[in-house]
Amino acid sequence: MVFDKEAILQELRNRTPKSGEYWEQSKGLVPGGLMSGARKMEPYPVYIERGNGAYIWDIDGNRYIDCAMSFGVHVLGHGPQPVLDALHEQCEIGMSYGMPHTREVEFTRRLIDSVPCAELAMVCNTGTESTMLAWRLMRAATNKPMIAKFEGCYHGWHDYAQWSVFAEPETMGPEDRPNMAPGSAGIPDGAKNTVLVLPFNDNAFRLIEEHANELAGVAIEPVLGGGMLTVDNAFLQKLREVTRESDVLLHFDEVITGFRLALGGCQELTGVLPDVATYGKIIGGGLPIGAVACSQEMVGIAQKTDDGFSAAGTFSGNPLTLSTGAAMLKYLQENRQIYTEMMTKGDYLRDGFNGWCQENGYPFCMTGIGSMFQIHAKADLPVLARDLIGQDEEALAELQLHFRLNNVLLPWMHLAFFSASHSQQDIDDMLTAFKASVEGVMANK
Ligand SMILES: Cc1ncc(COP(=O)(O)O)c(C=O)c1O
Repeated sequence: MVFDKEAILQELRNRTPKSGEYWEQSKGLVPGGLMSGARKMEPYPVYIERGNGAYIWDIDGNRYIDCAMSFGVHVLGHGPQPVLDALHEQCEIGMSYGMPHTREVEFTRRLIDSVPCAELAMVCNTGTESTMLAWRLMRAATNKPMIAKFEGCYHGWHDYAQWSVFAEPETMGPEDRPNMAPGSAGIPDGAKNTVLVLPFNDNAFRLIEEHANELAGVAIEPVLGGGMLTVDNAFLQKLREVTRESDVLLHFDEVITGFRLALGGCQELTGVLPDVATYGKIIGGGLPIGAVACSQEMVGIAQKTDDGFSAAGTFSGNPLTLSTGAAMLKYLQENRQIYTEMMTKGDYLRDGFNGWCQENGYPFCMTGIGSMFQIHAKADLPVLARDLIGQDEEALAELQLHFRLNNVLLPWMHLAFFSASHSQQDIDDMLTAFKASVEGVMANK
């Protein structure tokens, strides 16, 4: 085992020469070399050749246990047969028509049957589009201009959503009244006037009541993907009560949790029903998708406004995505046992890792629920976005390098997933790799 950081970087370069060549080309073609900032890696990203089940191979032939799963897309692993069959069948008869087709009916019926709050569903192309659409719908249905979101929650990268996604010490402001911090240059100041950032404490309820006249809705991730932090059920229930009493709509962003933690996502797990829910990732079966689910009444009110409510999209609901999506939803509806199996495996992974760190006095821990998990460089389990501050950033970055040395692939930000195709042996191998990675970091201290 190599412990010196520069030696590890060199070892990773030695293992991935072809990726290195593509990286050099990419930097001259794409800003920053990456098509999504979330794909960053040191010394450079690995370029993927193929995936199958729980595994992924880079173009240099290295095989990894995939713990990225395309940022949560592949709940069944890479290339599930029923989805591939649907894809091949649809390819033969057309990829995009720009016209209605019968798959729309099957797909939306399956979505609505699975999601407790859904009477109607609208389909778009990404999770980002789904929250943009949901927020427009909420504004139209209430005739109010603002949306509140919680500090630390990610709802995609559009101008209305990318505010205070991380709690950063320099910009975050007071705990009870977080500052609004933009997540990118180029977000217009005007967008700021349509967003209110809420803290994860009782002051959120006071702010909602105070701003009820201008708030169309409140958005929340019931499990925060950034940190894999599960929001307390009592907090969600209180949020439901306060929003209902204040005539403010409640939006659960289930782009990650929907069809991953349970068929009905966090709504099913918590019993708390939002007015609107957004989806993405899993429901496309591997192709790009987003969806908004809500009540008939809400859409009815939005459509009766003076300007009328509308949305569009050349590829929205295209037959390829809805074929693979319908095949995925059908499989999940007929195989609900995968959710209890993934819950058990996730608890085993977290208990195994956290118990071992505690026994050895290592300042690391793992959060998450079911098949969603994240390793942190701190001894105490973080609960809120602000608890993520003050970690040993150097240790986190080094840990990422050790993951790859130990043949597990995780996104740079460490938020991680496994799938129903990860066997108990794969979970044990992940645990072994994570322990070896922590030992590698500790040996360098
Ligand atoms: C909760 C949540 N909402 C929205 C999005 C944006 O989805 P997309 O990346 O498909 O645009 C994400 C993406 O990770 C997400 O986790």
